[in-house]
Amino acid sequence: MGPWGRNMAVRTKLVAGNWKMNGLREEGAALARGLAQRAIAAGRGGPGCELLICPPASLLTTVGGVLSGSGIALGGQDCHAAPNGAYTGDISPEMLADAGCSHVILGHSERRHGHGEGDAVVREKILGAWRAGLVAILCVGETQLQRQAGKAADIVSIQLAGSVPSGAASSNLVVAYEPVWAIGTGLTCTLEDIATIQAGIRALIPSGARILYGGSVNPQNAAGILGLAEVDGALVGGASLDVDSFWAIARACG
Ligand code: 13P
Repeated sequence: MGPWGRNMAVRTKLVAGNWKMNGLREEGAALARGLAQRAIAAGRGGPGCELLICPPASLLTTVGGVLSGSGIALGGQDCHAAPNGAYTGDISPEMLADAGCSHVILGHSERRHGHGEGDAVVREKILGAWRAGLVAILCVGETQLQRQAGKAADIVSIQLAGSVPSGAASSNLVVAYEPVWAIGTGLTCTLEDIATIQAGIRALIPSGARILYGGSVNPQNAAGILGLAEVDGALVGGASLDVDSFWAIARACG
């Protein structure tokens, strides 16, 4: 269905798998193959949402090849702001696009906390991603201490103000709300808290831009989270490393 044939107020959900630093070629290819087979078998409507896989950079070509024709998109997990240059160990947005990526995750808490990236750096990376034609998936979220201090909404607002460049639109920006304390811990925000924070984010970003939730999303809690009106999808870490789990989360969108 073309854009004119659908209710523009309804945002198609996006379920993205962030494989983080996991997977050698053989297992990455097997995981991608399992997902591609299910997507192809599910037919035109897929599982009822858009799917995106963000493997480590070493697997982009392999996974991209396996996903080709399945309708599942490919994304990077991070990038440098510059198109090229003397930046040992980095990857540019143009390189990601060249490898077949349509999206890139930026400002993930593991980059913010593990690599000291602040909002100004994330902002430059988003501009770089746009230059290369990529959709930026901007991650925001508070730490446990910040939540306990009642500052969750403030922190998220500050991160958005500092990292979203002008020119943001629903076509080039996705926001992922990932409370730091919920990542990889098995803890999730209450549905009420997710709805509250995500409604606050909604007021600060371009109309129609999608807001994902991330942090210990699994097949058991996915339906509740994805059933919230303010949640336009999920950014999934650990559970994206298993075909059945990731597919079950995707199906929870329906
Ligand atoms: P988990 O799903 O493993 O908690 O990871 C979430 C995440 O960081 C996705 O980017």
